[in-house]
Amino acid sequence: MSVKEKETKLSDSENDGALSKKERAALEKKARQDAKEAELRKKTEIREAAEKLKAQKFAEEKKAGKHKTLAEITDGKDDYEQDFKVPEGTVVYCENLVKLYKIGDIEVMALQGLDLSVQDGEMVAIIGNSGSGKSTLMNIIGGLDRPTAGRIYVNGINLLKLDDNQMLQYMRETVGFVWQNTARNMIPYLNALDNVKLVMQMAGRLDSNRANELLEIVGLGHRKKSKMHELSGGEQQRVAIAIGLANKPKILLADEPTGAVDTKTTAQIMSVFHRLNTEMGVTVIIVTHDRQLSHMVPRVVTISDGRIGTEFIRREEIDVNSDDMMNATAGHDTGSHIEYGFIDGRRRLFIPENYLSQAGLHEKSKVGIEVKDGRLELFKPEDDVK
Ligand SMILES: Nc1ncnc2c1ncn2[C@@H]1O[C@H](COP(=O)(O)OP(=O)(O)OP(=O)(O)O)[C@@H](O)[C@H]1O
Ligand SMILES: [Mg+2]
Repeated sequence: MSVKEKETKLSDSENDGALSKKERAALEKKARQDAKEAELRKKTEIREAAEKLKAQKFAEEKKAGKHKTLAEITDGKDDYEQDFKVPEGTVVYCENLVKLYKIGDIEVMALQGLDLSVQDGEMVAIIGNSGSGKSTLMNIIGGLDRPTAGRIYVNGINLLKLDDNQMLQYMRETVGFVWQNTARNMIPYLNALDNVKLVMQMAGRLDSNRANELLEIVGLGHRKKSKMHELSGGEQQRVAIAIGLANKPKILLADEPTGAVDTKTTAQIMSVFHRLNTEMGVTVIIVTHDRQLSHMVPRVVTISDGRIGTEFIRREEIDVNSDDMMNATAGHDTGSHIEYGFIDGRRRLFIPENYLSQAGLHEKSKVGIEVKDGRLELFKPEDDVK
């Protein structure tokens, strides 16, 4: 029934009193919902039409030899930085990344010379407080934002050299995203399956079998026809993971994927990431402020003030069976990882606050430094009065 028909029915009912108050309220609610969905559909159509126009323009320009494809760039045809080679096996390479935001006269240094390498097939969590630069880093790795300075290569591609169209292609082919905000992951009036298919369609590679298979992999084979509001927060995040994987990305980037769910659901979502990583070989990078997640990830890197702090490497393999993951979330495991410091490209070493205080040291002060039997020692100098 169209909105107009409903309105007619509503006004008829006022006359003959055929509808009860409850029925009338339900009809009005449905009419409002339909109008909202129609509006959303229209917006998406406009967006899709704009995408299509952009793609046509790109195809024409490409024909005229204006754009190189990503394959051409990674084929060694990129003439930039001939002398630089990304270390073997490194899929994400960030060197001295700087990101400066300007709001009026105020400047914010979100990344302050960040160095990070992620190996092909790794699962890494980047953990840091609010404002430490996590989303900024993810947006740069994902091609949504560009750094102010530094080097960034992903899958052998120099992101600084990509034009807007190549960047779009990069975003569709090389990386997949999972956001904390589910409204950003899913179109609400499409069901789970259609959401996965839409991403494939937009990249011009619809594969219905794969779309179905992805929802099975994230454990939602039985909820393919459900829309966003019919799914729980955790289920929505699992659909988001399937969407993120739609175009077979090399790397899956997740920004606070468990930020809005409870502990049990967190363990389920992390378990899905593990399976994708170990069974499908997808490199997974998760950023979060939730330190509990560190127990569930083999490699944890801390970020602080836009720089890498220390790093924790898991001693033994993580058992992905969910009981184990649940225990991990409960925060037992203290000796599971080995902690490493990290000397960045400018020879700076981050020292966590607890180490400083244990050694009687403090920020912005002189520190004694000695090498003894091959070990570097930092200590409070005798003349330090504080
Ligand atoms: N578009 C922007 N314009 C101006 N400043 C920004 C912008 N985006 C981020 N910032 C600033 O950069 C710094 C890092 O922000 P970022 O969003 O990367 O932090 P985060 O670690 O993701 O934090 P959260 O855990 O709260 O999501 C913050 O000081 C933030 O205010
Ligand atoms: Mg953030």
